[in-house]
Amino acid sequence: MVQHDSLRTVLVSSFAILAAGCTRQLPFKPVATVRELMESTVHPSSEVIFDSVGTIITIEGTQEIAPKNDEEWAEVRASAVTLAEAGNLLLIGDRPKDRGTWYTNARALTDAALLAVRAVDAKNPEQLFEAGGQVYDVCQRCHEHYWHDATREKGR
Ligand code: HEC
Repeated sequence: MVQHDSLRTVLVSSFAILAAGCTRQLPFKPVATVRELMESTVHPSSEVIFDSVGTIITIEGTQEIAPKNDEEWAEVRASAVTLAEAGNLLLIGDRPKDRGTWYTNARALTDAALLAVRAVDAKNPEQLFEAGGQVYDVCQRCHEHYWHDATREKGR
């Protein structure tokens, strides 16, 4: 019984420490709005991934595209890392619209971008194509849920 009580004391005091930690000022200094983040970071880095692999069909025939050299692979990797971290940026400050679906989508963006990083590390175009598809699905899912405002109706 004595032991039980002391365990409780330990638990209670560690919760108190946790709670104190939560009220501490976080070190971040968010600068961009969600829209600015989309325009400056999320959109451009995803485009590099989307454009890096695929099939181009013309009258002359079918052409498979993929990064051709180390430099091109490195460029895709940098964008995939940027996109993965952009998922974290969507979680700070007043950017999250809620702690449920928003959190899920932001984390899914990081996970999908991380698949692209792994695909680059494996220098595997098919895997990169697959990762690009997953990234695209996350963009769509989040937009369907949160982006219904006037800007979208104007077709932007
Ligand atoms: C966690 C949710 C979320 C994810 C994930 C997300 N977006 Fe967005 N996106 C938004 C919201 C919300 C807006 C509307 C912002 C506004 O107008 O205030 C938006 C707007 C945009 C815009 C329009 C910006 C403008 O100029 O009006 C672009 C482009 C865009 N997103 C691209 C992307 C791409 C590409 C991806 C995937 C790689 C993506 N987004 C993933 C939430 C998300």
